[in-house]
Amino acid sequence: MKHKKIVIAGGSGFIAQAMARYFGKDNHVVLLTRKAASDQNNNYAHELIKAADGYNITYWRWDAQHVERHWSREIEGADMVINMAGKSVNCRYTEKNKKELISSRIQSTQTLGEAIRQTTVPPKLWINASSATIYRHTTDKPHDEFTGLISDARVDNIPYTFIDRLRFRYNKWRTGLREGRHSMRLKELDYDFGVQLSKHCENSIFEQRTPFTRKIALRIAIALGQGGILEPYYNLLKSGFGGHQGNGRQMYSWLHIEDLCRIVEWCYEHNDMEGVYNCSTPNAVTNADFMKTLRHITGHKYGLPAPAWLLEAGAAFIGTETELLLKSRWVYPARLLQSGFVFRYNALEQALREIIRHTPVKKYNFFQKKLAAC
Ligand SMILES: NC(=O)c1ccc[n+]([C@@H]2O[C@H](COP(=O)([O-])OP(=O)(O)OC[C@H]3O[C@@H](n4cnc5c(N)ncnc54)[C@H](OP(=O)(O)O)[C@@H]3O)[C@@H](O)[C@H]2O)c1
Repeated sequence: MKHKKIVIAGGSGFIAQAMARYFGKDNHVVLLTRKAASDQNNNYAHELIKAADGYNITYWRWDAQHVERHWSREIEGADMVINMAGKSVNCRYTEKNKKELISSRIQSTQTLGEAIRQTTVPPKLWINASSATIYRHTTDKPHDEFTGLISDARVDNIPYTFIDRLRFRYNKWRTGLREGRHSMRLKELDYDFGVQLSKHCENSIFEQRTPFTRKIALRIAIALGQGGILEPYYNLLKSGFGGHQGNGRQMYSWLHIEDLCRIVEWCYEHNDMEGVYNCSTPNAVTNADFMKTLRHITGHKYGLPAPAWLLEAGAAFIGTETELLLKSRWVYPARLLQSGFVFRYNALEQALREIIRHTPVKKYNFFQKKLAAC
């Protein structure tokens, strides 16, 4: 893809930055960010890309809530708009955080929708992030876009009011009594918020009236690249907890971040593509296999497993949720494969080796030394 104009919201984020790197040499990438230019050397794990590094990129400040002339004129005649903005799910699911997680995604989508409606030459394609976590926690079969199971209406309430919260807790308690503490049904209630969040992501884009712009929601599995989710895993390895998490049988759907960028390009080039797409390699692994491969590549012979109760305690301590580690995410990219898309990174080991090899030495020299020795 060359000489196109691509606008990406959530500009400083892990995926937006990877996309800017992927597209920014041959295309003009406009990154919308809530940060001022002076903040751009912030405390993000990755370094933000700069035009000075040879990329054709422009940063514009936005608040993700109001259409302002300085950035919205970039949407005029753009080839593609990509929304990757939203509060990070790496937080405790308190009521306040839940509201922010939802509103940051809905408002940024509504704002982009409004900006698109104000154009005279609308963008050809609009892509929004959704998540593979939209499907149920299952360990017996993968979910595709046609037959995949998404939580039903029984668990469809996000606790907002005090009464809603009480009702939700009562429902959980009753389900635990009836079906057991380790039942699938109870797990679904535990993991319900992630499902609802993904539903909001998808509804918010498909509700927007933009008749001349194709719309796609990507149900992204765990995107592996430099930074992102791999950093907490490196920390687990370093601290000796490089074994499996929970019982290790939960499925881990993944894709290389470069394949995610290639999927975006593929969607742009195929005018018939619309709606929702699972973004994951067809080769999901179990959590135990994922950790085993990571240990092998980084030269760690052993790693202690982390049982669910320990993870619960640790997650509460560091302010995150165990869902990110314990929920079984098993998706199959049926629609992408049907469209003819071919993944470049099909095997986990190949993907992880490539990522670790290109990770800056100053950050992970420990692992690179190990890798070199393998
Ligand atoms: N990474 C994955 O494996 C993965 C998997 C499934 C789904 N997703 C979804 O894909 C999207 C992008 O993921 P990511 O990993 O790139 O996330 P990320 O690194 O957390 O980036 C998201 C960006 O959104 C912006 N943002 C943060 N809080 C916001 C708020 N309150 N209002 C508006 N914008 C806000 C920030 O950009 P600025 O500060 O520059 O504005 C932030 O850098 C997210 O919706 C995520 O849930 C990611």
